[in-house]
Amino acid sequence: MYSANSSEQELIAKHLEALAVKYDASGQSLPSYLEGLLHANYLTYWNYAQIDTLLTLQNPRTDFPDEMIFVLYHQITELYFKAIIWEMEQLIHQEEPNDPIFLMKLGRITRYMKHLVHSFDVMVDGMEPAQFLKYRMSLMPASGFQSFQFRKIEILATSFHHLLGNEHKDKFNAESNVSDIYEHIYWRRGATELATGKKTLTLKQFEERYSQAFLSIAAEVKDRNLYALFQKHYATSTLKDKIVQELKDFDALLNIDWCLSHYKSAVRYLAREAQPVNATGGTNWQQYLPPRFQRIIFYPELWSEAEKAEWGKSWVVANVGQRTTKNG
Ligand code: HEM
Repeated sequence: MYSANSSEQELIAKHLEALAVKYDASGQSLPSYLEGLLHANYLTYWNYAQIDTLLTLQNPRTDFPDEMIFVLYHQITELYFKAIIWEMEQLIHQEEPNDPIFLMKLGRITRYMKHLVHSFDVMVDGMEPAQFLKYRMSLMPASGFQSFQFRKIEILATSFHHLLGNEHKDKFNAESNVSDIYEHIYWRRGATELATGKKTLTLKQFEERYSQAFLSIAAEVKDRNLYALFQKHYATSTLKDKIVQELKDFDALLNIDWCLSHYKSAVRYLAREAQPVNATGGTNWQQYLPPRFQRIIFYPELWSEAEKAEWGKSWVVANVGQRTTKNG
């Protein structure tokens, strides 16, 4: 027979009382739940983190060993995207503005982005180009271009009109209708066929699956995306300078550093031949992926004109330019 000492007995009685109140409030029987505890198994690490299921999700389409790295790293990236969206949504749905929490969560977001930027070498240096050039042919017309979460991060980060293609940037503003803006969203340009100028299958499938979702998210966060929140609640905060710095870091990490780390992998694998290889999505990637072409800037109001004019340029010279010369 188990005998508890007096302080344990006191604690057990206290917990039982609290549990009785909790279960009673929802019309449940505490004794039945206590009996359930008798039969329930202890939690294990592998069940909690669903490791067995997680490890069934990597299914390359070919037998080239390096395709596993390609699948794994896409999934790792999507998990980080999920972590970023998790933080963004908490800020967007927060009932009361809270300056330290806004700053703290922006800090988490930029930290995740730094991990993604640094770890992109897993792609750039971690696969054999000869294998990549073969297994990629089995993946058409799929492309990371079709990442729903990447687009969702963009939409939650800024006013929808900041995602317009260059030639439409001045025609709309934060108040414009989201469907009108969506017609000219910048990413369409990255998924038009080189030869005909028509939408690629990659884009058609992507739009069929997600356009409705993008439109409803964009409408939902029209006044609550991160920049709208900043303007409404934090532009006069005592933490303003730090918040602005985090927003700018996030902007540069995603729209310059990540894009260029990613572009570096496209150069590494697709620009090895005398003629650059077409991407699996069939796009004009060389005129699309470098940030200096699309010039997507989440927070243009926070950058100087000189910084915007140089968007993405120095990084290209310092990194991609050297790599192309070395391998080309
Ligand atoms: C060897 C590795 C990679 C290569 C060569 C590559 C190549 C490309 C190319 C050429 C495009 C342009 C669209 C197309 O024609 O398909 C693209 C778009 C994209 N890829 Fe990758 N990619 C790689 C890895 C990744 C990874 C690991 C992710 C992580 C999710 C990713 C996410 C994206 C995204 C989000 C876009 C759209 C970018 C934008 O619209 O600005 N890619 N990729």
